[in-house]
Amino acid sequence: MKLWGGRFSKDSNPLMEDFHSSIAFDQRLYKEDIEGSIAHGTMLGSIGVLSEEEAQLIVRGLKEILQEIEEGKIEFSLEAEDIHMNIETILTEKIGVVAKKLHTGRSRNDQVATDLRLYVKKEITILKDLVLELIKVLVDISQAHKKTIMPGYTHLQKAQPITLAHHMLAYVEMLKRDHGRLEDTFQRMDVMPLGSGALAGTTFPLDREYTRKLLGFREISLNSLDGVSDRDYLVELEGALSLIMVHLSRLSEEIIIWSTDEFKFISLDDAYSTGSSIMPQKKNPDVTELIRGKSGRVFGHLMATLAMLKGLPLAYNKDMQEDKEAVFDAIDTVKKSLMIIAPTIGTMTVNQEKMRYEAAKGFTNATDAADYLAKAGLPFREAHEVIGKMVAYCIEKGESLEELTIEEYQGFSPFFKEDIYQAISLMTCVNDRKVTGGPNIKVVESHIEIINKWIEEIK
Ligand code: ARG
Repeated sequence: MKLWGGRFSKDSNPLMEDFHSSIAFDQRLYKEDIEGSIAHGTMLGSIGVLSEEEAQLIVRGLKEILQEIEEGKIEFSLEAEDIHMNIETILTEKIGVVAKKLHTGRSRNDQVATDLRLYVKKEITILKDLVLELIKVLVDISQAHKKTIMPGYTHLQKAQPITLAHHMLAYVEMLKRDHGRLEDTFQRMDVMPLGSGALAGTTFPLDREYTRKLLGFREISLNSLDGVSDRDYLVELEGALSLIMVHLSRLSEEIIIWSTDEFKFISLDDAYSTGSSIMPQKKNPDVTELIRGKSGRVFGHLMATLAMLKGLPLAYNKDMQEDKEAVFDAIDTVKKSLMIIAPTIGTMTVNQEKMRYEAAKGFTNATDAADYLAKAGLPFREAHEVIGKMVAYCIEKGESLEELTIEEYQGFSPFFKEDIYQAISLMTCVNDRKVTGGPNIKVVESHIEIINKWIEEIK
């Protein structure tokens, strides 16, 4: 019989059973469900709702179940609907009728709300570590490539020379914000809803503070309706996870482009590439393509959760069971993506010569030539026009700016002196950009120092 079967005179239709059961996916909450029940049972013992012996019996039984689940000895049943009722049923089989006292002063609504928060808190901690690992890989690449000049792009057209370090550190800044968003989410969600009951609290004199302490939450929820209805934190988390995927997807897109025969900026390690079943020459960047592709499903989960919540009257509605598959898959996808992208990038070979060769083409030093004239006294707009004409002239001749003679330069403007060649060399273009945030080697070094200090501080 169902745990809630008292007022029912018929069994559920098997289709119904399959449709509304959540055990297939919420079984991953077994640990948190048992932790929550141990805390609740212990607290009931402490306030005398259960006798000490009853509480101990329940706690011992729950610990045994935990061990048996971990040893793979337990099979969950569809009929028991979800992880909460599965464990309660197993506990009853194990210790008998006293198990039926555990659910005193508690509802599955505050139980599931608590379990999911316990689970998500642990996952956020793991996610933060994974973001940090990726940051470290990017910092290592940056350390090694402070002088590796490459073209910087706007509109995917060559724009100005930068370094690979400078480029990678842009991603580090994005990931630092991602880390911060995960931490913010954690801080706001660190609230225990247990004690909210089904929706209106309970008449039992629960010691919620004690349960809170046992479960390691920072505070307890202050409104029972909100306690069982709040899934804001899942939306926040899925938002943070979506942004992580946006960042990983942009990075992936660049890796894909850089590994083409046309770019040849990098080549991926064989361990993180795949071949083609027909074309023997192929080496494909599947990892980064999959990350780019998987970003969509994480955004989808964010959308699904928002849509699921928006029309719900207070308090609990079964719609909310849909929160789990969404957040589980979003977490799993981001964890796997972070785990694989770190070594994929960490092991790639950088083709420094090709990067530098490409940086030297496409007039990436045209801004510096214009800046040269502006520093010599020509208003920048006029300098821009002079260099524009020179670029057109060079395109006509099939030459680069540095290949023009000084006479040709002075034909365009009397402000040009011999030192123009030095001023538009690639190294000058990079190293004269000393403004905070720029690609200058010293500036990049101090940026890396700031990042390393941040890593130390957040530990
Ligand atoms: N499996 C349910 C969920 O995930 C648990 C809560 C059920 N509560 C209820 N009153 N049916 O949302």
